Amino acid sequence: RLPEPFTLPGTVPPVLAPERVDAAGDHYRIVQRRAVREILPGYRTEIWGYNGQFPGPTIRATRGRPAIVVHRNELEVPTVTHLHGGHTPAESDGYPTDYLLPVGDAAAMIHDDPQAVVVRGEREYRYPGDQPAATLWYHDHRMDFTGPAVWRGLAGFHLVDDDVDRGLGLPDGERDLPLLLCDRAFDADGQLVYPAADPMGMHGAAVSDDYMQGVQGDVLLVNGVPWPRFPVAAARYRLRWLNASNARVYRLRLDGPHRQAPGFIQIGSDGGLLDRPRHLDAIDIAPGERFDTIVDLTGYRPGDSVTIVNELGDGRTFDVLRLCVDRTESDSSRIPDRLAELERLDPATAVRRRDLHFRMGDMPSMPGHDGGADMKGWLIDGRAFDPSRPDLTARLGEVEIWRLTTNFNHPIHLHLNPFQVLTRNGRAPSATDGGWKDTIHLPASQEAEIAVRFTGYTGRFMLHCHNLEHEDRGMMANVAVTH
Ligand code: C2O
Ligand code: CU
Repeated sequence: RLPEPFTLPGTVPPVLAPERVDAAGDHYRIVQRRAVREILPGYRTEIWGYNGQFPGPTIRATRGRPAIVVHRNELEVPTVTHLHGGHTPAESDGYPTDYLLPVGDAAAMIHDDPQAVVVRGEREYRYPGDQPAATLWYHDHRMDFTGPAVWRGLAGFHLVDDDVDRGLGLPDGERDLPLLLCDRAFDADGQLVYPAADPMGMHGAAVSDDYMQGVQGDVLLVNGVPWPRFPVAAARYRLRWLNASNARVYRLRLDGPHRQAPGFIQIGSDGGLLDRPRHLDAIDIAPGERFDTIVDLTGYRPGDSVTIVNELGDGRTFDVLRLCVDRTESDSSRIPDRLAELERLDPATAVRRRDLHFRMGDMPSMPGHDGGADMKGWLIDGRAFDPSRPDLTARLGEVEIWRLTTNFNHPIHLHLNPFQVLTRNGRAPSATDGGWKDTIHLPASQEAEIAVRFTGYTGRFMLHCHNLEHEDRGMMANVAVTH
């Protein structure tokens, strides 16, 4: 009942046209609703989609021009929308209890938080776009229920363009492919299966105890299509990888007729362009991370194909997608040796050092959590998320060094500003740690030091694990950013 790999045509999510463009910015409107989609051939799968689509429509914003997005919630649960990687004021950042209640009645529980701003029906999120070109994404961020909401489809791209990026001559148009990678599980009727204690995510815990380490599926989707094939020209392609999976980490590698050929040329990281391109044979990509890459197919001939595989998977989770060269075309794109000027956060200027431990532990009983003495969860410095308590206080403009340690796999993500990786396990960062990161993958028993600096906006922001089941089971902390 599952399709053969590399038989279904690949697609990219449609770009959303603004409803209106005026002096205030570009105005968009998105309706969150249930929809039925054919994901597996011959099956009608119910999803929750932004505009009923999975992935949601792509927003293409321009640096310096605000994107003002009105979300309307026609689902039957509260939602929260976060722009991941966005340099966003706190009131639009999608704090997990800043609920957007559905238009109609919601039966679902909401966490009581006196500081939260709860609205019903529609909410306007304002994204100033005051940041360099980057591959961002938006997704649900509701407290305790991010996992099931993203699993059902609430995720999409938000790309920021700028003159630096456009002036480089990189592949663009049809040769600029945002690729949202995720894994899903389906039942015999083709419906998405999320192992929740309360399957509708209305009242109880989002994920059942057996799956608190993270929910994975056996079907790999690229832009919502299982194991697609993309017909391509013998040319350079910009592949913008996003791992939107709840919990799966991938090791992407190119497998083709020129095995020893260049592999991936990384040009950008979570927060935008690198200073110079880097050749990578393989890319480890954890939930939340993005890698902006070029794959150069100019030496290939019609009939050749290149498969992108996941070396951490086996069987069905090994295959990802195939690029099938079916034509020759001219290619005037370039990959310049210098990409962007990157400011380096100088650790010598740091005013503070912090140690942050990411570990499993006992969940406290809290109102709105069905915790208890024997309920395990994921903790940061021994504490589970609690909106009423600031965990870290940081001042605008100050450089800090954070040492992150763990005894399990955690992709650690910070809101408001990206950071720079200084060390891994006491040594130089890995090849994939370059540039501005907003999510760092820490495999079990590893540690990293990162340089952090907040700019622009004060308020409460999140530090959390981007394994969505860890996030939903406590692994978030409040960062209070002050003047
Ligand atoms: Cu992509 Cu706080 O999340
Ligand atoms: Cu985690």
